[in-house]
Amino acid sequence: MYPIRRIASLPTPQDFRSYVRERVIDLELDDQIITGRGSPLLQPVTVCGKTLTNRLCVHAMEGWDGTPTGGSTEPMLRRWRKFGRSGAKLIWGGEAMAVVPEGRANPNQLILNEANLGDIARLRAALGEEHRAHFGNSDDMLVGFQLTHSGRFCRPRGVLEPLVAFRHPLLDPKFKVTSDAQVISDDQVKRLIDAYIAAAVLARRAGADFVDVKHCHGYLLHEFLGAHTRRGPYGGSFENRTRILREIVAGIRAQAPGLHVGVRLSAFDFVPFKPDPQRTTGGTLGPGIPEDYQRCLPYRYSFGNRPEQPLEIDLSEPVKFLELGASLGIELVNLSAGSPYYNPHIQRPALFPPSDGYAPPEDPLVGVARQISVARQLKQACPGVRLVGSAYSYLQDYLPHVAQHCLRTEGIDFVGIGRMVLSYPSILLDVATGRDIDRKKICRTFSDCTTAPRHGLPSGCYPLDDYYKHSQDMVTLRNLKKK
Ligand SMILES: Cc1cc2nc3c(=O)[nH]c(=O)nc-3n(C[C@H](O)[C@H](O)[C@H](O)COP(=O)(O)O)c2cc1C
Ligand code: SF4
Repeated sequence: MYPIRRIASLPTPQDFRSYVRERVIDLELDDQIITGRGSPLLQPVTVCGKTLTNRLCVHAMEGWDGTPTGGSTEPMLRRWRKFGRSGAKLIWGGEAMAVVPEGRANPNQLILNEANLGDIARLRAALGEEHRAHFGNSDDMLVGFQLTHSGRFCRPRGVLEPLVAFRHPLLDPKFKVTSDAQVISDDQVKRLIDAYIAAAVLARRAGADFVDVKHCHGYLLHEFLGAHTRRGPYGGSFENRTRILREIVAGIRAQAPGLHVGVRLSAFDFVPFKPDPQRTTGGTLGPGIPEDYQRCLPYRYSFGNRPEQPLEIDLSEPVKFLELGASLGIELVNLSAGSPYYNPHIQRPALFPPSDGYAPPEDPLVGVARQISVARQLKQACPGVRLVGSAYSYLQDYLPHVAQHCLRTEGIDFVGIGRMVLSYPSILLDVATGRDIDRKKICRTFSDCTTAPRHGLPSGCYPLDDYYKHSQDMVTLRNLKKK
């Protein structure tokens, strides 16, 4: 691998282009940002019955900062206001909301239940108010809530309490799955489907335009898409592995008419990665290498990669999934990849790994390019579905240039921002409206927003957001990192 150059050291779009070409990374960008009405970022689009006046999306970004009973807090309100201030007309999820308390990924995750309805409605209202205060109107926004069950990664009381779709030869030992009793039964699945539908009804009452029936990042419904080895009505064939989605959507149509449904999908996956033990020393994590998967071939434990070679993408089932979604009236799909728990470099490319990760096994731009390329292929295969792209934050200074290129060439319908929204929510709107980019606010993928919650602290942009930078939690985080 070539040495990785920091994006901040590439002074112009031309330098960026030379850099990616030299490394044979398939990533295009526009040299000039088009501002005002002609900007590809500001083109209107009609989706779910609303005309949105730009192509900007804020991804779901949870903060590990709810109350112990799954309600909202002041830092959460602050984050949702920030989402509103971004100018994005599509708000994808706000943040993950568990449909049952035991399905939380951490003890501070939101729970979408009757008791928390007022709190969650307040988050929704704060987002709209902030957007109106800055842009005059929030009627042209589409706001969805992300419904989740964390499955293998449930930690409702701070320690792993996994509930899995099937026994997994590589993930079970890593995430404390030791018994078949931890595999969710068909009856439990049926009750969970009811919980998703009930949460969707509440989402509607709290002001959501759509719900995201989350199928990404290794959480339970994503894991079901790879449940080839599971027997019974929810495993084996493609039809069975997508039955949960069909049943949830049917229930939502019956019980929350008018509520739209979207899906966030990990459109491809790889085997789990780990830090190379040969190159891990003292406090330094080695570069990521795949777990030894040879004994698991054909690899029938994931979705969107080849069973014979699980480090290669196979989009045949993801295309079928989008077609199925379209037949169910799902107009919006947010594309992501992999999982932050077992292969973060394909999900959120970063220069600096979080404390439970590994050093980059590839130039993080390869990870960005991979997601952009998959999104383009899926857009070509399913032009009628509105697709949101992910993993743009690592592009940093060139995020606007790449985003504009992707939108202009119809490689994607919306550009979503995740980490960048924590440090610089208005980056895309600023450039599209002719304002100078503020380089001090650019996310440099330090991963503190992931390292902090891995140690029980709230998430946030500790290096760049004064609210976190000057907090007591920052002192704790610094000490943890020193250790
Ligand atoms: C702190 C943090 C919280 C996140 N929370 C969620 C979440 O609640 N739901 C979700 O689908 N993805 C979540 N993600 C993933 C992001 O939405 C996004 O896919 C990822 O960061 C890659 O996009 P980016 O390059 O713009 O950051 C989170 C990521 C981070 C770093
Ligand atoms: S902590 Fe801030 S700079 Fe670091 S990855 Fe997160 S958002 Fe980006």
